[in-house]
Amino acid sequence: MGSFSLAFAATAALSLQQVVAGRGPPDADWHWHKGPDSEKPSVSVASTWPFALDVCKFGGAVHNSAVLVGGTNNSASPVAAFTSGQFADTQGQVAWDSVNSQVVRVTVNTSSSFVGARFSSDAADRFYGVWEYPWDDQLDNAGIEFELKGVGDSEGVNWANARAPFFFSNAGYGVYADTLQMGSYNFSVPGTAEFIFNTSSLAYYVILPDRPGDLKSILSAYAELSSTIEMPPDSGYGPTFWSDNFEEDFHGSVSNAQENYYDVINHLYYNQIRATSMFADRPYGTGNYSYGNFDFDPVYYPTPENFIQNLSDWGFDFQVWVANRAFLDTELYNASLANGWLFPGIDGEVFRGPALNLSIPEAYEYFKQHLSYFPSVGVKGYKIDRGEEGEMPVFEQNVQMGLFIQLCYETMVEKWGESNFFDFARSVVDRSRSKTNVWNGDAHSNYTGFAYSVTSGIRSGLMGFSTWSSDTGGYIREEEDPAEDLWARWMWFSTFSPVYEIPIGTNHTPWYPPYTSDLVEVLKESANMHHDLFPYIKSYTYQAHKTGIPVMRAAFLEAPYDEKTFDMTDAYYFGSELFVAPIITAENQRSVYFPEGTKHLEYFNKSFVFEGGSSASVEMDVHYIPAYVRAGAIVPRGDIYQGNNKWTKDWKPELTIELYPSKEVPWSSFVYYNGDTKQEVPITMKTSHYSGQVDVDYGPVGIGGKIVLFAKNGVHNATLHAGGGSASFNEVESLFDD
Ligand SMILES: *[C@@H]1O[C@H](CO)[C@@H](O)[C@H](O)[C@H]1NC(C)=O
Ligand SMILES: *[C@@H]1O[C@H](CO)[C@@H](O)[C@H](O)[C@H]1NC(C)=O
Ligand SMILES: *[C@@H]1O[C@H](CO)[C@@H](O)[C@H](O)[C@H]1NC(C)=O
Ligand SMILES: *[C@@H]1O[C@H](CO)[C@@H](O)[C@H](O)[C@H]1NC(C)=O
Ligand SMILES: *[C@@H]1O[C@H](CO)[C@@H](O)[C@H](O)[C@H]1NC(C)=O
Ligand SMILES: *[C@@H]1O[C@H](CO)[C@@H](O)[C@H](O)[C@H]1NC(C)=O
Ligand SMILES: *[C@@H]1O[C@H](CO)[C@@H](O)[C@H](O)[C@H]1NC(C)=O
Ligand SMILES: *[C@@H]1O[C@H](CO)[C@@H](O)[C@H](O)[C@H]1NC(C)=O
Ligand SMILES: *[C@@H]1O[C@H](CO)[C@@H](O)[C@H](O)[C@H]1NC(C)=O
Ligand SMILES: *[C@@H]1O[C@H](CO)[C@@H](O)[C@H](O)[C@H]1NC(C)=O
Ligand SMILES: *[C@@H]1O[C@H](CO)[C@@H](O)[C@H](O)[C@H]1NC(C)=O
Repeated sequence: MGSFSLAFAATAALSLQQVVAGRGPPDADWHWHKGPDSEKPSVSVASTWPFALDVCKFGGAVHNSAVLVGGTNNSASPVAAFTSGQFADTQGQVAWDSVNSQVVRVTVNTSSSFVGARFSSDAADRFYGVWEYPWDDQLDNAGIEFELKGVGDSEGVNWANARAPFFFSNAGYGVYADTLQMGSYNFSVPGTAEFIFNTSSLAYYVILPDRPGDLKSILSAYAELSSTIEMPPDSGYGPTFWSDNFEEDFHGSVSNAQENYYDVINHLYYNQIRATSMFADRPYGTGNYSYGNFDFDPVYYPTPENFIQNLSDWGFDFQVWVANRAFLDTELYNASLANGWLFPGIDGEVFRGPALNLSIPEAYEYFKQHLSYFPSVGVKGYKIDRGEEGEMPVFEQNVQMGLFIQLCYETMVEKWGESNFFDFARSVVDRSRSKTNVWNGDAHSNYTGFAYSVTSGIRSGLMGFSTWSSDTGGYIREEEDPAEDLWARWMWFSTFSPVYEIPIGTNHTPWYPPYTSDLVEVLKESANMHHDLFPYIKSYTYQAHKTGIPVMRAAFLEAPYDEKTFDMTDAYYFGSELFVAPIITAENQRSVYFPEGTKHLEYFNKSFVFEGGSSASVEMDVHYIPAYVRAGAIVPRGDIYQGNNKWTKDWKPELTIELYPSKEVPWSSFVYYNGDTKQEVPITMKTSHYSGQVDVDYGPVGIGGKIVLFAKNGVHNATLHAGGGSASFNEVESLFDD
């Protein structure tokens, strides 16, 4: 046998237990990989590559048409014998085996410097993943060829840089290349995905769905191989207020940064606007460009420890900006220069300053020790900036960012413990998602930046970076930005984002001119609604932590059978109950396409129902966002985290379970996450098709409150018991049914 390959009968059920383990070239002792049933699998062995599995609901197939090997990143070619249609791996470079019933691992070991692979399928197939940045405001990667590195100044958003060596296709498979080495992806040929990495040894995984068409299960299998997010603290979901410069823009009697925060606290208090944390972007310390001496500048922060304690007493966690970057003449720079830790050839005289090579253990230890000052005075997380601005060689970006995020995480977790602090970064690669959350970089403060941010949030979710936010109103501002209408629309988008964070200050604060009291109203409505959705968001964040399926979901994840959702960049499911279609233009209206498979009820007025598969033109002023709840939904809400609510006397948590029954949905459920017991608590609803009776059952949700059922014949209420219980409602006339 001089060559071999394998192919499955087209009728084969989706079962990778049938995949053989192989190593080329096979010898006489070639044996089948043992499946769980220890049976010799019934596969037909063909004599030709490609590695092809006919598994997909959409008529496509996994077609690993080439393994690429070469001496440079643009000279890699298919391993020799593929060219003749035969797989004669004479050097024994390629091997594969099945990891489980969903996953095949291919390992390539060569003496060449670059290794990659090509997958070809139907020209109409789409590829998702790899980069958060949405390129030409695209959800998929059609036509894109770029490295797996940070994207710089770009249309819409600068530095939207979460990324992962993982893509999946709507044809029903995914591919994960498990490496932090620099590489590139090329989707320029329709129906073809190609990648190449700067490594001579690479393992990549071909991932199939659990059931045909179940794209979510591809994300879950990838998450299992890679990582999932850590649960954030309750204070991490926001609203979070921050400024690029609390050292200026003083109002009233304010004379330093500390007092500027108090001014924010007081305005939130008097307007009764909910919030959970604040952070200081640069500047806040001494030294060149205010960072690198591991301190607070006493001119602006005369009593940092008391200040942070005071914020905490008022219900706010506090975070600070950090980066792996040594500005000239700072402690960080001097120590690194003396010890040879700085990446060579990058001029410390220029603003950028070089990064430390954190692969050097002493550099890592030094940085970590010194950064620990911040948690020691009460700081509960970092905004982790940069890592892709030229401060290190490009080929180090992925490795170094992983190390820096790890270092930051360690300083915090050692002081506060898991899930008790909130880090977030813009340049996050693959497994680092378990060590930091993500914000989408510097969005432009206009409708282009807003539209791109919505798409980047959806794309982030498609790689399992679930706990995500954008700078509400945008970051890159012209003098008069953000315009009031843009800011209001973006506030509502942040209501329906996993995290609500909003930059203020430097002449852009909602309660100071030129902004009107109407904007303060929108801020209050949108911030308080985000807070009220916390039980819902936290439950779905737990699902993301467990399974990798994000809170903010591309519509096609919920409606994979509806092709019209495949490139839906301007609407998404938030969890699986709510469908959100932000207004991302200066008009007061937009067209909304409702995915097939369910009816959607307008969530604010609860008066209009939209059929799946239909479009509607919806009009809305800035006090609302087009948001819809699906037939049969269960939506837990309520005020269960106090944060800055010091204005309610004897505040206590209260949970509300909203029910939206439909006769067409006889049974539905919601998995509520009880943060105190750390348990998943099922809530189920049964709706009788004939009698109009609705029965709800629930486990120990931990917090009492009420059950509220929305129907045509009014709002029906019942008591919600903390320890669990049930309730029945009679003669319900569903809002969804005629
Ligand atoms: C690839 O090479 C590495 C290092 O020599 C070795 O540990 C590994 O087992 C090899 N893998 C395969 C599949 O040959
Ligand atoms: C090859 O590497 C160089 C240097 O990092 C980079 O500029 C180029 O885009 C890479 N090309 C490919 C195909 O990855
Ligand atoms: C991407 O693939 C196309 C088609 O093979 C090729 O022309 C192009 O040079 C590739 N791009 C890069 C950056 O290698
Ligand atoms: C603590 O914070 C409050 C909140 O606004 C502020 O009014 C007060 O002056 C601060 N106390 C101290 C001692 O700084
Ligand atoms: C930082 O150092 C550079 C280079 O010496 C200098 O030009 C700049 O003025 C310094 N900036 C600050 C804020 O100290
Ligand atoms: C770093 O070294 C420079 C030059 O020797 C010196 O001026 C500066 O004060 C040092 N910085 C710190 C924080 O020690
Ligand atoms: C970074 O440090 C590691 C460990 O010392 C070293 O192997 C590597 O070459 C360094 N990278 C660069 C670009 O200097
Ligand atoms: C590949 O990585 C090596 C270090 O391992 C580096 O010297 C080289 O420049 C990289 N090549 C490219 C094209 O990035
Ligand atoms: C949005 O802002 C960016 C950055 O300032 C700018 O390049 C772009 O032209 C703006 N777009 C619109 C539509 O104004
Ligand atoms: C709800 O009704 C009010 C009053 O008629 C209207 O102004 C608003 O636009 C409606 N909101 C939605 C979300 O339909
Ligand atoms: C039922 O709950 C709704 C929503 O919380 C509330 O507006 C209404 O007053 C309640 N009705 C009764 C009878 O308690």
